[in-house]
Amino acid sequence: MSKPFYVTTPIYYVNDKPHIGHTYTTVLADVLARHHRMLSERVYFLTGTDEHGQKIEKTAAGRGITPQQLVDEVAPNFENLWQQMGLTVDHFVRTTHTAHKAVVQARFEELRAKGDIYKAEYEGLYSVSDEAFVTETQAKELQAQGLAHQLVTLKEESYFFRLSAYEHWLIQLYERWPEFVQPEFRLNEVKQFVAPGGERGKLQDLSISRTSISWGIPVPGDEKHVVYVWFDALLNYLSACREGHWPPQVQLVGKDILRFHAIYWPAFLMAMFRQDGDDLQGELPERIRRQLPETILAHGWWLMGDTKMSKSLGNIVRPKELLHFGSDAARFFLVRDMQIGFDRAFTFEAFMDRLNADLANGLGNLAARSISMLQRYRGGAVPVPAVFDDLDAEIRALIARTAPEYLEKAGRNDFNGALETLWTTLRALDGYIVKAEPWKLAKDEANAAKLDTVLAQLFRALRMTAVLAAPVMPDLCQLLWESLGLPGAVADQRFADLMIEAPAPAPVADPKPLFARIDKEAAMTEIEALKAAEAAPATPRLDVPELKETIDYDTFAKTDLRVGLVLEAEEVPKSKKLIKMKVDLGFEVRTILGGIKEAYSPEDLVGRRVVVVANLAPRPLMGIESHGMLLAASDNNSKPYLIAPPEDAQPGFIVK
Ligand code: MSP
Repeated sequence: MSKPFYVTTPIYYVNDKPHIGHTYTTVLADVLARHHRMLSERVYFLTGTDEHGQKIEKTAAGRGITPQQLVDEVAPNFENLWQQMGLTVDHFVRTTHTAHKAVVQARFEELRAKGDIYKAEYEGLYSVSDEAFVTETQAKELQAQGLAHQLVTLKEESYFFRLSAYEHWLIQLYERWPEFVQPEFRLNEVKQFVAPGGERGKLQDLSISRTSISWGIPVPGDEKHVVYVWFDALLNYLSACREGHWPPQVQLVGKDILRFHAIYWPAFLMAMFRQDGDDLQGELPERIRRQLPETILAHGWWLMGDTKMSKSLGNIVRPKELLHFGSDAARFFLVRDMQIGFDRAFTFEAFMDRLNADLANGLGNLAARSISMLQRYRGGAVPVPAVFDDLDAEIRALIARTAPEYLEKAGRNDFNGALETLWTTLRALDGYIVKAEPWKLAKDEANAAKLDTVLAQLFRALRMTAVLAAPVMPDLCQLLWESLGLPGAVADQRFADLMIEAPAPAPVADPKPLFARIDKEAAMTEIEALKAAEAAPATPRLDVPELKETIDYDTFAKTDLRVGLVLEAEEVPKSKKLIKMKVDLGFEVRTILGGIKEAYSPEDLVGRRVVVVANLAPRPLMGIESHGMLLAASDNNSKPYLIAPPEDAQPGFIVK
């Protein structure tokens, strides 16, 4: 049975629109998933949405809809985006799924029965935006940032998780299995947090239920409580795990949510997997370690200059701005430019420079030159090298060590470093062409063997690049693969079968341009336009009642709609709304009153074609009998817009 590889992203809050941060994490997870498939592992890639909590409840209330309606409306934003980007997600979990809720409730009960969850009184400062009770230090930090308004005092009966009891095991986890948190300096932060006598002191038990919120998973048997969002959210990794995949190998998180994943999450799991007789003050059993995630991989943040991206600053980079350059380009940049763990400033300038240098020039140029030389000098057939001078031998050795070095770095989740290795080799190959001067070798038959070697080595390096970089740029590498005359899908290749020196099975094809050079100025104008469209105020939501009950055709057909022509119009004295019109219906002229004064003046109406409900029983309005009604479109807040048949529709025409 092949090795399982279970990779997760955080589940995203649905009250936010996807941005570069979400895109980065999910793309990185996709790169990991694809990479491990090419290592012949059994991959399971999970992402999803976090849909409970006070923020959702409030936003929904503000819009006059139920929380369920709200989450059903916005969760697909994320799912669709990942689909559009071609991410190979195996499962999209939503915390409002019945299966998830059932697991959360079952685990809650189990821990309550074990004594790891108990009920007590809780009073504290609660940060609405973080959905968490905050310590005094955190409260001070928020106040210093001018965010005091986000804090409220909450006092309520609450269920607690016995986090303090797991401190000893947690510390052992970090000491004995330091790979649990990567990169290392992020582990140190976690240790600081938990260490006895560390700056934060001993771990406190954790409140994991609320009575002040109703949008959540009810505590079984005590339904005025709902499960606190982090116990609910973190359990998604368990509830949505596919059989045979537990535990996760890599769980990607941003630095801001590392604490939840590196402290609470393993403690919850320790509590679930411990057995009677396990000593919480003794050694953490290996058996339990094996049930915990192998690695929590914490990345830094994409920043704008030195500052955080935020809605209020209006400096958020959106996925569609990145995708404007193509999905592979966005993937390449995000993975290549961010060193995992550290923050990174984003600029479109750097983004475009990277793509031009590495994809349009770099790889694109090298592939185009190499393939066209193979065609020009060898009719597309890839030669077998026989002679190696010093330069050739140096390049041969470089190509041979690139793949293991790339795979070693990728194996440590360092794709930024792995791509750097690969591109260093590609640059050396450019240098190889310059030094070997194949165009000169081609002029003299005596140099044929030497030329064969140069061309063959270029081919081998490109074939290797297509395979190694396929998880990062699936489409571009497939194109390169086909240009090299190679059969099938590059994604179906296995790194273990990467035989760099194997002969080519077929002649190369015509070189296809891999990546068109970006005209930076023109691209920036297009990006500004996308940003402007994003910033434009959204059209206000429609305020319309629910759809009326279904009727059959015969019922509808009883309504006789006709085209009318307004001959005369005048305001009805003392009425705020009514206008009296004489309307020609072709077969007769009628008096019709319309409540349209706020939107139309009598002069506007004369000569206008309208749609009339012609068989409506007459009814008196302000003492005048109206013989029909005009059709108009509106919602509860807008002015009426008269339905206008085209100029050549004659009065009396039937509307159906
Ligand atoms: N719902 C919780 C996670 C629960 S997981 C059991 C949550 N959601 S979130 O939508 O607010 O954030 C999701 C992720 O986006 C976090 O990992 C966060 O670090 C990441 N990012 C938010 N802004 C970011 C950048 N500017 N750059 C990189 N990642 C960023 O937290």
